[in-house]
Amino acid sequence: MQRVRDVLPSVRRDLEGLVRIQSVWADPARRGEVQRSADAVVKLLSEAGFKDVQIVSEGGAPAVIARHPAPPGAPTVLLYAHHDVQPEGDHTQWNSPPFEPTERDGRLYGRGTADDKAGIATHLAAFRAHRGNPPVGVTVFVEGEEESGSPSLSRLLAAHRETLASDVIVIADSDNWSTDVPSLTVSLRGLADCVVEVATLDHGLHSGLWGGVAPDALTVLVRLLASLHDDEGNVAVAGLHEAAAADVDYPPERVRAETGLLDGVREIGSGSVPQRLWAKPAITVIGIDTTPIDKASNTLIPRARAKVSMRVAPGGDAEKHLAALTRHLEQSAPWGAQVTVTPGDVGQPYTIDATGAVYDVARAAFRQAWGAEPVDTGIGGSIPFIAAFAEAFPSAKILVTGVEDPATQAHSVNESLHLGVLERAATAEALLLANLGSDGKVAT
Ligand code: BES
Ligand code: MN
Ligand code: MN
Repeated sequence: MQRVRDVLPSVRRDLEGLVRIQSVWADPARRGEVQRSADAVVKLLSEAGFKDVQIVSEGGAPAVIARHPAPPGAPTVLLYAHHDVQPEGDHTQWNSPPFEPTERDGRLYGRGTADDKAGIATHLAAFRAHRGNPPVGVTVFVEGEEESGSPSLSRLLAAHRETLASDVIVIADSDNWSTDVPSLTVSLRGLADCVVEVATLDHGLHSGLWGGVAPDALTVLVRLLASLHDDEGNVAVAGLHEAAAADVDYPPERVRAETGLLDGVREIGSGSVPQRLWAKPAITVIGIDTTPIDKASNTLIPRARAKVSMRVAPGGDAEKHLAALTRHLEQSAPWGAQVTVTPGDVGQPYTIDATGAVYDVARAAFRQAWGAEPVDTGIGGSIPFIAAFAEAFPSAKILVTGVEDPATQAHSVNESLHLGVLERAATAEALLLANLGSDGKVAT
């Protein structure tokens, strides 16, 4: 689409400006950066022609809402993205500085280039391609704490219900099948996490004096964490939900290429890859607090803790899953060790019935923009916003799109955006706005 190509250089510049801002909400020292990021988003949306742009917050991160009123009889489309990013991790593992956007081989590298500042860029491009005057109402909602589990989102939705009400919502925060084939995401897993602390002693003990009689907390913790999976690598917690994934071919070579599994390391779990990724629960230990090796001495460690993160299959309830995980942890420690579980974040999974006029229009827009048929996919990741929004606006049609691709490495080092994907995603979104507006033909 020529109009998208025309606006792309400016969109690319603006995306680079956003990536230079270190909007890591999870890092208390960088909350000022998140504010700067929200301010920058306000400026971009105002300059793009939105008249009504505001920063909102309900005790959490600043979010941005911008509105372009619907022409009479036309539907309103809400465009979602998030401006917060994951911590960048180890700088020495990056091939270029994480907050200095850098192009290599058609990809733009930097934290948030894809997840999810590219979502903001896509919305900007689509709106600019319509010269700030699309034939539908457009509300842009850019959240600032998605990567922290959106703790104040339900309050934001309640406080701005009228402003955010819409007929169609486009969530540009997911993946694509490849750089040439788009995905329409139709299911997402939910999330539930907790911190488990194990205590065995009221103080450390000389490991020579008491080793072999008194249990140390780290050994107990390791055994407890090991009980979360069976020998095949399937989750071994009772009472979890399993759904059925779409029958999509996902060859083992593709898994190897996309994950970077080291030589000799095998996949875990049973069932097809889509089944394991999109429709079964998964449990991961994502952090441990204990004595670091350079402080290690011959001491029985009295207490240790781990953060455990669980993905909840579509159709399951994240709160109930957290209760099941808590029960398992409380009951499975060896040798009578004391266990305390502190519940963390929960986000509900979501399944979309992607049939009907709006989805037909979306698939047609994808087909035209990408020159390829979109694939209905699940994702293993979570966007808690979706279930919360669907609950607040049950009749809205939800489209989960995105600007990531299998090589993006979101959350890891060397995250990148494929620039061709950005163009195709922006084109699809511009076409979607045009076609949803065409003479009100689409019954939403
Ligand atoms: N954009 C991701 C969700 C996603 C993951 C899309 C994988 C496509 C593929 C989102 O920013 C994300 O990372 N969500 C978190 C949510 C959590 C903090 C509640 C996640 O899945 O870990
Ligand atoms: Mn994201
Ligand atoms: Mn993310």
